[in-house]
Amino acid sequence: MPHFLDLATPGAAGLRAILDDAHARKAARRGADGRPWSKGRADADAPLAGHVLAMIFERPSTRTRFSFDMAMRQLGGSAIVTSAGELQIGRGETIADTARVLGRLVDAVMLRTANHATLEELAAAAAIPVINGLTDISHPCQVLADIMTFEERAGRAVAGSCWAYLGDGNNMANSLIEAASVLGFDLRLGVPHGYDPDGAVLATACARGGSIDLVRGATAAVEGAEVVVTDTWVSMGQAQAKEKLAAMLPFQVNVALMAKAAPGAIFMHCLPAHRGEEVTDEILDGPTSAAWDEAENRLHIQKSILLWCLGALA
Ligand code: CP
Ligand code: NVA
Repeated sequence: MPHFLDLATPGAAGLRAILDDAHARKAARRGADGRPWSKGRADADAPLAGHVLAMIFERPSTRTRFSFDMAMRQLGGSAIVTSAGELQIGRGETIADTARVLGRLVDAVMLRTANHATLEELAAAAAIPVINGLTDISHPCQVLADIMTFEERAGRAVAGSCWAYLGDGNNMANSLIEAASVLGFDLRLGVPHGYDPDGAVLATACARGGSIDLVRGATAAVEGAEVVVTDTWVSMGQAQAKEKLAAMLPFQVNVALMAKAAPGAIFMHCLPAHRGEEVTDEILDGPTSAAWDEAENRLHIQKSILLWCLGALA
């Protein structure tokens, strides 16, 4: 079953096919006058007509929720959105039984969960594709949208580029590490001691031959980087600890730090941002910021992820 739980399973060829399809579908949604189509209009081929995606959220979401729903509409299908609290799981029905039932009723499931093991349990029992809409361990849809954003801004494939990630070694950091090792770009991590990314993810990526460097210092991470990425210092479900915020402070992306990156470097943030913490207004709203393109590209890349999962990628 082609589940999309991480970036390693599709492999470089699978990710390349998804990226190429997303670029092509995005480009095709323009009229002869160059203006983008209205957002609710289906793609000309409507390849998922008659298909339904179930979305289950254990955590809040703005981008993931709207982009997957719009993705299904543009592919000619539809989506059912629910919070985990509304399901019988809350009354003790098992994840596996829930998976069996959903497999009889819908064509694919997207889950956002606090615990990566829940996603794996759902996928293990599901006869339909399961998509990772963020867990405590990873956020593969977001990172693939970020890679799409780099490729459209840089006008070339991501392989061989140089990225810096600053701040907390969280789910975004883990998926970037995985992406760098699968797609062959360099990643430098400016992450303070005590807030490292997942050890198993890092070890697997390094064993795969990934060029991943835990440089620690913010300046060392950013110097010469073509992309500077950060994320919130306090992820969903984490307690706001004073000592963590103090440890993160030197990793704030501001004008002085961004100036040390390569000329023309791009700033990325998956959003939501905590303005004045991990990034300043000048950077998030400034000319180097690709944050809003990333948010839009969640829609485009997820259409192609859905097609890959459902065996409908051209
Ligand atoms: N970046 C992202 O996943 O945003 P949401 O939490 O709003 O879905
Ligand atoms: N690291 C963040 C990402 C939000 C999209 C979190 O897990 O809350």
